Amino acid sequence: MEYFLTEQQKLIKSLARRVAEERILPVRAELDEEEEFPWAAIKDMANADLFRIFIPEQYEGLGEGCFALCLAVEELSRACAGVALCYAADALGTIPILLYGNEQQKQKYLPAIASGTKLTAFALTESGAGSDASAIRTNAARQGEEYVINGTKQFITNGGEAEIYTVIALTDPTKGSRGASAFLVDKGTPGFTFGKKEKKMGIRASATRELVFHNCRVPRENVLGREGLGFVITMKTLDGSRAGVGALAVGLAQGALETAVAYARQRQQFGHPISAIQAVQHMLADMAMNLEAARALVYATAKTIDSGAKNFTEEGAMAKVFASDMAMRVTTDAVQILGGAGYMKDYPVEKMMRDAKINQIYEGTNQVLRNVIALELLRRKGLRE
Ligand code: CAA
Repeated sequence: MEYFLTEQQKLIKSLARRVAEERILPVRAELDEEEEFPWAAIKDMANADLFRIFIPEQYEGLGEGCFALCLAVEELSRACAGVALCYAADALGTIPILLYGNEQQKQKYLPAIASGTKLTAFALTESGAGSDASAIRTNAARQGEEYVINGTKQFITNGGEAEIYTVIALTDPTKGSRGASAFLVDKGTPGFTFGKKEKKMGIRASATRELVFHNCRVPRENVLGREGLGFVITMKTLDGSRAGVGALAVGLAQGALETAVAYARQRQQFGHPISAIQAVQHMLADMAMNLEAARALVYATAKTIDSGAKNFTEEGAMAKVFASDMAMRVTTDAVQILGGAGYMKDYPVEKMMRDAKINQIYEGTNQVLRNVIALELLRRKGLRE
């Protein structure tokens, strides 16, 4: 399929592919096994200017948007979804600053993010607030020109490794979702520490950690947008980031499909390669067809976001749900085509299948997002706007 990339987008894609093939692919199994955060790969991505892609030029970025970011995420994920997630979660943590940061906040944070020297994280989830995002308990009490944050965030991607955190906390618990605010909190701020590091089924190169706030004081200037805007910032941020999850799922499925095709062409059974068996051919055809449909949806969503559209809640949710469900099926079928070999760690597809699962869960479960899609559909009475 031809997606008519610009010269700049082709360059970004090829730079990401080179980092993925030369620097990530050789170490992905080890990173997975050791649950090691991929700092060497992060430095390689920084040297290839990948962290500059979606940052505006006046803050030392390349001034590209969501589509170019998706191209990079896809290439990285084709080699390792765990490493790609460290990169994609940095974009998630940066979106609130891009959308709601004032000039001073942008000047302070964006050049460092663009250089790749400081990673970011987005801290919403808590033990009692997963799908029900407005059930957060972390609170931020105003004291003069400061806010005092108390509470614990759970399952935070890039937790512990990132330097810059967007933290959603209640500034007025009586107002429900309208009482939440978003704060920029730097690693090292007194009262901000890290708790349990999670051991995971997949995406094991990425760090998932608790953030603990105990009388953590942040200046008023660290509020994003304004007090009370935290839930809207959260929803807008997730609307903007879900195409990236879709891209991660597409890259993962691409890696699995390529492995399955190569294996089917060389694996001999009954005197011929298993690629000559029509049942296997049909599996490969379905994998390729669904993968390309997901890619087209993800790219179209990213381009909608880049067009300056005001509302893309439905598109973002569709791209994320469709691509992650596809990646789960494609990686599972890849294991099936490799048979016993696919179940063993000698081949990458068992890791890909483990890595795929989380994409149906984080950044809005595929069940919650189906609700979101249905509500949007019903709001516009099923008509296309
Ligand atoms: N854009 C702007 N505003 C929005 C919005 C959107 N997309 N969606 C909702 N809002 C507004 C509503 O208009 C409403 O505003 P008012 O109070 O002014 O009327 C307010 O937000 C509350 O909306 P709802 O009543 O719809 O909220 P709800 O409590 O029923 O929850 C929900 C809705 C969709 C289920 C929401 O809780 C949700 O998105 N849940 C999923 C959470 C999620 O995605 N978590 C991912 C964590 S981050 C992560 O996973 C990252 C990682 O590690 C990789």
